Amino acid sequence: MLKGKKILLGITGSIAAYKAPYIVRSLIKSGAEVKVILTPAAKDFVSKLTLSTLSRNPVLSDLFDQDSWSNHVMLGRWADLFVIAPLSQNTLSKMANGICDNLLLAVYFSATCPVVVAPAMDEDMWHHPATQANISKLISFGNNILPVERGELASGLNGDGRMAEPEQIVKSISDRFFLSKQLRGKKALVSAGPTYEPIDPVRFIGNHSSGKMGIAIAKELYNRGAEVTLVLGPVPSEVSIPGVQMINVNTAQEMYDTCIKEFEISDISVMAAAVADYTPVSPAKQKIKKSGDLMMIELKRSTDILKSLGERKRPGQVVVGFALETTDEKNNALKKLEEKNADMIILNSLKDKGAGFGYNTNKVTIFDKNGAEMKFEQKSKTEVARDIIDALIHFYYE
Ligand code: CTP
Repeated sequence: MLKGKKILLGITGSIAAYKAPYIVRSLIKSGAEVKVILTPAAKDFVSKLTLSTLSRNPVLSDLFDQDSWSNHVMLGRWADLFVIAPLSQNTLSKMANGICDNLLLAVYFSATCPVVVAPAMDEDMWHHPATQANISKLISFGNNILPVERGELASGLNGDGRMAEPEQIVKSISDRFFLSKQLRGKKALVSAGPTYEPIDPVRFIGNHSSGKMGIAIAKELYNRGAEVTLVLGPVPSEVSIPGVQMINVNTAQEMYDTCIKEFEISDISVMAAAVADYTPVSPAKQKIKKSGDLMMIELKRSTDILKSLGERKRPGQVVVGFALETTDEKNNALKKLEEKNADMIILNSLKDKGAGFGYNTNKVTIFDKNGAEMKFEQKSKTEVARDIIDALIHFYYE
C-alpha cells in the first residue's frame, strides 16, 4: 500500500511517543522506507535503538551529531511525506510561530513535501485557545491535521487529546496521500478565479476571487489520475500547475465560450469561478472622460455557465457547482442544485470566518442531487478539495 514511499517520521516529547515504534513498524510493513527524527525531549520517552532497529535506518536528533552537520534541507527533500506523530504542544507552538531550535523544526521549515501532524496532549491543553489558534495556523500553512481522539489520557482523565492509534495514522496517510488513481482515464474541466468585465480600455468590473479553491480542485483531480483543463480568470498571481492544462480567460463571455467547448469532451466539470453576473452592455472603445457628478453604466446579465452545462449534460457527465451564500444558505444551495441541474453543490457561507474569498481555508457543506448532505469542519483549501473529490468519487465512481 505504501510500497516505495519515503516517509519521514518526526517524534516529539509527548507520552504518546511510546506508540511511535508501532507507527514505524506499520509503515515498514506497508512497504514504506522510513527515517526517524526525534526532538531532544522525545529521547526521554522512546529509545533510539528501538526506532533505528524498526526503521532500519539511523535515527537523527541533533542538528550537529558529533562532528557532522545533519542536512535538514536534504531530509525534507528526500521525503514524500513528513509525519509528525505525536505532536506536542511545545513543538506545535514553535511550528506555528517560526521558532527553529532543533533538527525536527529545521526540517519542518525547509520541507517541500506535504506535512501531516498527529497532535497528542491533555484535554485542557488541547482546548486552550492558544493551542487551537496554533492548529488553525498550521491549517492555513497547508499542513494536514489528524484529528485527536477522545479517551483515557496520561493524566488519568478522560477526554479529547489522545493521539490517533498507529494503525489509524498509517491508514489515514496512505488514503490521503497515496491514493490509487481512481479517476484515471477521466477528463475534468474546472473553472476558477474572477472575471473582469470591461467598462472601457482601462477599467473593469471584477471581484476579489483568488481562484485558490478551484486551483486546489484542479490539482486534486490531477492527483487522482484525471486529465484536467483549468479555465482560469485573471487571478492576482501567476499560476502554473504541472500536468494541468491551463486556459487563461478574462471575461465571463470568454469563460463561457471556453467551458462550453471543453465540456463536450469532459466527464467531470467543476465550476468554481466567481463569474460576474452582469457585464456592461457596450464597453467604451476609448477611455471614458469624467463629466458630471453622476455616472450610469448599463449592465446586462451574463450567461450562467454552470446552468448552461447542466442543460447540455449527457448521461455519465457529472457537473459540480458552488454556492456562496449569506442568508438561508441550505435552501439557496438546494435551489441552485435543482435550477442549474447540477449533480453536486458545494455551499460555503460567508458567515463562517475563514471561509470564502482570499482565505487559504474554507468550510463547506456538500449537497448531492440524491439528497446526501455532508458537513465539514474548517480546513485548508487543499483538504477541502480532497473532501469534494472524495465525495464525487463516492457518489459517481464507486
Ligand atoms: N456560475 C457560472 N456562471 C455564472 C454565474 C455563476 O458558472 N454566470 C456558477 C459559479 O461558478 C458557481 C455557481 O454558478 O458554481 C453559483 O454561483 P453564485 O454566484 O453563488 O450564484 P448565482 O447563480 O450567480 O446566484 P446569486 O448571485 O443570485 O446568488
